[in-house]
Amino acid sequence: MSTPAAPTADEVDRLRDEAVVAIDAAVTLADLKQVRLDHSGDKSPLALANRGIGQLPTEDRKDAGRLIGQARGAVQQALAARTAEVEAAEEERALIEERVDVTLPWDVEPVGARHPLTTIQEHVADIFVAMGWEVAEGPEVEAEWLNFDALNLGPDHPARTMQDTFWVSPEKAAMVLRTHTSPVQARTMLDREPPLYVICPGRVFRTDELDATHSPVFHQVEGLAIDEGLSMAHLKGTLDHFAQAIYGDDMVTRFRPSYFPFTEPSAEMDLLCYVCKGRPGEVAACRTCRGEGWVEWGGCGVVNPRVLIACGVDPEKYSGFAFGIGLDRTITGRYDIADLRDLFDGDIRFTQPFGVEL
Ligand code: DAH
Repeated sequence: MSTPAAPTADEVDRLRDEAVVAIDAAVTLADLKQVRLDHSGDKSPLALANRGIGQLPTEDRKDAGRLIGQARGAVQQALAARTAEVEAAEEERALIEERVDVTLPWDVEPVGARHPLTTIQEHVADIFVAMGWEVAEGPEVEAEWLNFDALNLGPDHPARTMQDTFWVSPEKAAMVLRTHTSPVQARTMLDREPPLYVICPGRVFRTDELDATHSPVFHQVEGLAIDEGLSMAHLKGTLDHFAQAIYGDDMVTRFRPSYFPFTEPSAEMDLLCYVCKGRPGEVAACRTCRGEGWVEWGGCGVVNPRVLIACGVDPEKYSGFAFGIGLDRTITGRYDIADLRDLFDGDIRFTQPFGVEL
């Protein structure tokens, strides 16, 4: 085996120059990976030449080592410099190509909106829960006895025919679609011991034709407080707070004498008209209160002792007050909605302006 000849300076320069030209030509990081393998990997010509130094005659080794070492150093430097350039260029490209213009209009699916009846029921619940009251529920298909008799609406009571009732067949089952949320009063008193402070928002049913101001399905919120020493004054204070929480601190309420079998005394509660505020110059032309200065909000009163007795509460020890308010009219009045049917059509275009409240 003959002793290999030491590579000449020209040969080493050529290998170095080839490597540098290939490195400078690399455009992507993938190109660079290949160039690195070809020109500085274990099998690259310069690496092979380096490994061959050991076989050279001793006197040639030093020069060959220096030449090859310098060439390899130059290749490493060229690789490092080109890598930095290519990386910077790739980052630049990514910044341009992947740019997101956050000011463009978005075309996501339209989100739904919560129905104002849902939000008002939650709002009312929040107002009362903040005062320590609880939210009670009752069934929509209700026993006749709880819907009427327990509330002092006996079988022959004239007020019974005033609430046009959906009866559930068979007739002997004595079940109705509840005509008001008041049976939840009876259920609560029968279920639990006073003191009781509950509200019950919910759906109620009457055989009304559907038109711009009537619906066979509508919504009420019932309130019931039973404790020692409760009076009409507590009722007034509670309803004033309720009205002000909904309509603002300047809301004023008034009671008008009325009749409900389950309360004695009974009253209709009116709100100061939230549009004209009863102002002398405006009230006559006001469409909302029709020139009255007041709008009806609901019925209320001191719980009739006969109801307490029917529901197992001792009227000698306890007294209480109750109220029932129509939520649908609260919404149509407040937002000036001319047609009650809009509340029940389920058209998203109606609910959308009320916004998404979560
Ligand atoms: N239940 C009555 C109705 O639907 C409203 C009502 C009046 C409820 C007086 C009450 C009340 O709790 O005390 O017409």
